[in-house]
Amino acid sequence: METRTARLKRIRILALLLTALSLAILLVSAYIRLNGAGLGCSPWPYCYGQVLVGGSYQHSDAARILHRAVASTALLLGFVLAWQCRRPHPIEPPGRYAKALLVLMILLTFVGIWSADPHRAWASFINILGGAGLVLLSWRTVLAAGSGQAPAPRRRPAALLHAGLGTLALTMALGALIGARYAALACPLLTACGDTVWPTAAGWSALNPFVRVAVAASLGDEGGVALHLLHRYSAVATLLLLGLGGLRALAQPAARQSAVLLLALLLLQFALGVLTVLSGLSLGLAIAHSVCAALLLAVAMQLMVRVKAAPA
Ligand code: HEM
Repeated sequence: METRTARLKRIRILALLLTALSLAILLVSAYIRLNGAGLGCSPWPYCYGQVLVGGSYQHSDAARILHRAVASTALLLGFVLAWQCRRPHPIEPPGRYAKALLVLMILLTFVGIWSADPHRAWASFINILGGAGLVLLSWRTVLAAGSGQAPAPRRRPAALLHAGLGTLALTMALGALIGARYAALACPLLTACGDTVWPTAAGWSALNPFVRVAVAASLGDEGGVALHLLHRYSAVATLLLLGLGGLRALAQPAARQSAVLLLALLLLQFALGVLTVLSGLSLGLAIAHSVCAALLLAVAMQLMVRVKAAPA
């Protein structure tokens, strides 16, 4: 009979493969979405969001075929991984993450049916966050299969990291809304969105992803400005909370490597956001900003796991 260690090793390899595939899905779908929205198009900025009004769509058949091939392979592997975690008997803790990963993959497969229509903000919103969720859950399965033992008891409090993970998720949701609502052009400056420093009463309605987007938000659009302002404020809160949480974790030898990686990714993600705006929404920088956000989420979760498992 196969030992627990050998089984965990196989599960870890499968989950590692799924993490790589999830990152590939995220990268290709960010390219398809942002290229389709018109980032980097010509004549800039008039071509942005033309797909919403029946204008020429920046097709990329090769990217679409690649996306389908990678996503189908990942779904198949997701079933294999979930099966491996159940047979001959359930194995925990990786089993629960593998199950959650498979459920998310199936959900995203269904959402994919609706996401071809760019007017459906909710479909793009779920796709953007779901892509990051795939990376998070597949990497969580790798970590859970890596210890070779039962989960470590919770020992250390990690309030700063908890709060930082919360604001990180909020920042990502707000960023996803900017993309899903075609609001990237609403606030092209770094220092301020016009004279506004806080969303107007009308602007808050942009937080609702369940709307049909008819046209791209123009310069100074109240909803678009609200999303940009809240995204940036939330990013600053994330920088402070995760930054402090990461600096604190440097003192724990078992968590040091993850803490260094988190701090590096945090600075990189912030810099990519700033450079995306300064560059006038360069396609390459916006894609890197999207992928780095998912990596940041996965590493923040890894640090939390390490900090909690470290001896008191
Ligand atoms: C912790 C820091 C940050 C995180 C986690 C984050 C995350 C995200 C995410 C997930 C998106 C959606 C990307 C997509 O559509 O695929 C986004 C979009 C965006 N972010 Fe950030 N962001 C951060 C900081 C910043 C900063 C500091 C700025 C600028 C000052 C910024 C500017 C933007 C812009 C302009 C977009 C819209 C690009 C587009 O989708 O068209 N971000 N962000």
